[in-house]
Amino acid sequence: MSGNMRQVVVLPGTGIGPEVTTQAVRIAEWFATKRALPINLSHPPAGPAAYASLGTPMPDSTLEALRTSDAILYGAAGGPEIDAMPKQAQEEGGLRRLRREFQMFANLRPVAAHPSMLDASTLKREVIEGVDMIIVRELAGGIYFGEPRGIEILPDGRKRGVNTQVYTTDEVERVARVAFELARGRSGRLTSVDKANVMESGVMWREEVERMHKAEFPDITLNHLYVDNAAMQLVRDPRQFDVVVTDNIFGDILSDCAAMITGSLGMLPSASLSAPDAAPDAKGRRCALFEPVHGSAPDIAGRGIANPIGAILSFGLALRHVLGTPEDAKLLDRAVGDALDRVRTADIMQAGRERVSTAGMGDAVLAALDRLNGA
Ligand code: NAD
Ligand code: IPM
Ligand code: MN
Repeated sequence: MSGNMRQVVVLPGTGIGPEVTTQAVRIAEWFATKRALPINLSHPPAGPAAYASLGTPMPDSTLEALRTSDAILYGAAGGPEIDAMPKQAQEEGGLRRLRREFQMFANLRPVAAHPSMLDASTLKREVIEGVDMIIVRELAGGIYFGEPRGIEILPDGRKRGVNTQVYTTDEVERVARVAFELARGRSGRLTSVDKANVMESGVMWREEVERMHKAEFPDITLNHLYVDNAAMQLVRDPRQFDVVVTDNIFGDILSDCAAMITGSLGMLPSASLSAPDAAPDAKGRRCALFEPVHGSAPDIAGRGIANPIGAILSFGLALRHVLGTPEDAKLLDRAVGDALDRVRTADIMQAGRERVSTAGMGDAVLAALDRLNGA
C-alpha cells in the first residue's frame, strides 16, 4: 500500500445505516477510480454482527483501525438489534464512546436549501430560499457525558433519574474557536445558543464565548440567543443565521429541526472532528467521523426507500476536510444538485419528479458525476 494512501474505515451500523452507507461507498469508489483519490476502504467487524460472532461489538482490532484512520464513514446506530444487546455491549460499541474517546468535539452540520428542493420542504419557499448555514455542535461533553448520571431507587420505592450538564472553559473554548474561525471564512457572523437565563452552565458558556470574542475575534459579529428562541427563529427566518455554535444537546435538537429547511432529515450530513494532532501519530492529523444526521429509522429500514443524500454528502465533507481537494467536494455537491433536479426518494418526492429507491438515488448521483467530471 502506498504511503500516501488515506485509510477510510466504514462502519455501516444498523437499520437504514447499511442501506445509505452502501451508496456513500459507491461514491467513494467512483472518486478512487475516476479521480485517482488515494483512499483505501476497509470494513472491519463491528456492531451487533460482531457481538454475535466475536462476543464484542467493538473488537480491539476495529478500534485500532478507527484510531489510526484518516476518516470514518458511519451509517447510523440504534434500533432493535442494538436494544437486544446487553447495556454494557451497547456502550462499548456505541457512537458516544467513539466521540468521547477520540475527542471529536466539533460536529459540523451544514444546512443548505438546494434550489430545486424549495417546494419539497414543509416550510414555505420564500422562507427557506437561499439558506446556507452551519450548526457547530459541541459533541464530546455536556449532558451526554456529565456525572453524576443514572437511575436510583429511593427508599420509598420511587425512582430518581439524574443527568448532569457540565462544561469547562477549555471545552467551550475549543468548539467556539472552530465556530469563530468558520465564521471568519464565511460572512463573519456567529450566533451562540445557550440557556443562560436558567442554567449556570449556560451563563459560563456565554461568558467564555464573549471573552474570546473580545480577545481574539473582534472582527466577527457575535450574537447570543436562548435556545427556545433559536428554535423558533430557525423556522421563522432561517436566513438570519450563518454559523451557529451550541452545546451537545441543543445542537442535537436544533439540527433535526433545521433539517426540514432542506426538505428531509435524510438530506443532512455531518462531520465530527477532533483537534489536529489528536490522532496517535499526530502530524496535524485529526480523528474524523462522517455520518448523516439521521438515525437508523427502524420505521423504514429494509425497504430500500431511505434517502442516501445525507450519507453521500457526509462523504463530501470527508472530501472537503480530510481526503480530497475542494474541487472534489464541489464536484460532488454539483452532482447531488443535478441528481435532485431529476429524481427523488419517497421522503422528498414531489409531483412531476421520478421516484427512485435508495440505490436509484445513488445511481443518479453517479451518473451526474460521470456527466460533470471534466465537463
Ligand atoms: P431517525 O433519525 O432514525 O428517524 C426519524 C424520522 O426520520 C423517521 O420517521 C425516519 O423514517 C425518517 N428518516 C430518517 N432518516 C431518513 C432517511 N435517510 N430517509 C428517509 N427518511 C428518514 O430518528 P428516531 O426514529 O428518533 O431514532 C431511531 C434510532 O436511531 C434510535 O435508536 C436513535 O437512538 C437512533 N439515532 C441514531 C443516530 C446516529 O446514529 N447518529 C442519530 C439519530 C438517532
Ligand atoms: C445524533 C444522534 C445521537 C445523538 C444519538 C444516536 C446518540 O441523535 O447524532 O444526532 O443524540 O447525538
Ligand atoms: Mn440527533
